[in-house]
Amino acid sequence: MQKKIFAVIGNPVSHSKSPDIYNYLFKKYNIDGTYIAIELNEENIEQFLKEFAKGMNLKGVNVTMPLKEKAATLSRRLDSLSELLKTVNTLDLTTGTGYTTDGKGLLLSLNYRGFDITGKNVVVIGAGGAAKSICYEIARAKVNSLTILNRTLLKAKELADIVGGAIKTDDLSKMDEYMQDCDLLINCTSIGMKGKDFEDLSFINLLKKNSFVYDIIYEPRKTRLLKEAEKNNIKCCNGLDMLICQAFYAFEIFSGIMPDKEERDELLNML
Ligand code: ATR
Repeated sequence: MQKKIFAVIGNPVSHSKSPDIYNYLFKKYNIDGTYIAIELNEENIEQFLKEFAKGMNLKGVNVTMPLKEKAATLSRRLDSLSELLKTVNTLDLTTGTGYTTDGKGLLLSLNYRGFDITGKNVVVIGAGGAAKSICYEIARAKVNSLTILNRTLLKAKELADIVGGAIKTDDLSKMDEYMQDCDLLINCTSIGMKGKDFEDLSFINLLKKNSFVYDIIYEPRKTRLLKEAEKNNIKCCNGLDMLICQAFYAFEIFSGIMPDKEERDELLNML
């Protein structure tokens, strides 16, 4: 039988961790598959999916920047979250269905870390693409409250409207006011990446000692936000865990197999 091919598509993809994650899982579960990275742009994704994907036996793709929206328009069907957000990060080419697994991945990784979000007060900072699926999943978990803080307040309000439910929104400059009651702080902005950083991290001192700081950035592995949380003995993690866990949901879509914590632990050590 012909080897099943899967790929991450986007631009840039040369440093993507996805091939390492999926090829590890194919080996672990004895699946005759190969996972590659394919650089594509908005101009050539449609032709690629329609004309080349079948010929190379491509069964599914993970979609990254800047193609998540375009891929949604090219999907035959969308799961309910992808339909709402008009983006996809996973496309099953055997059915033409698009999915969004990032937010689920974050929740699974919290679960693996023993952090139960039931009844908790969650503060998400950022209202871009990454914040969307995370806020959607959190709003549907049994949290006590969800607050979205963003530099551009209007974007936080728009996101709250899309997600629905009783979500508070405020300007990022008001951050201090929300720290005392916060149980879980999630950074979904690009602050901490490539030279960008928080001007002032003193808000960390206002957090409870049993709170959790989640930075979805994984390059660098330890942002200043995480260093500061560690200094204050506050539990925290970077985005590598979410990256692995969102890939587990995509792997389940592709193969029918949901990997477990043992694989997640091995991947965390490997990447
Ligand atoms: P992604 O899809 O990765 O989430 P994005 O859609 O560009 O990327 O969103 C980036 C997020 O980081 C936004 O919430 C952005 O705030 P604005 O909506 O006000 O643009 C936030 N962000 C980026 N740089 C920032 C900075 N220097 N200070 C505060 N927020 C910043």
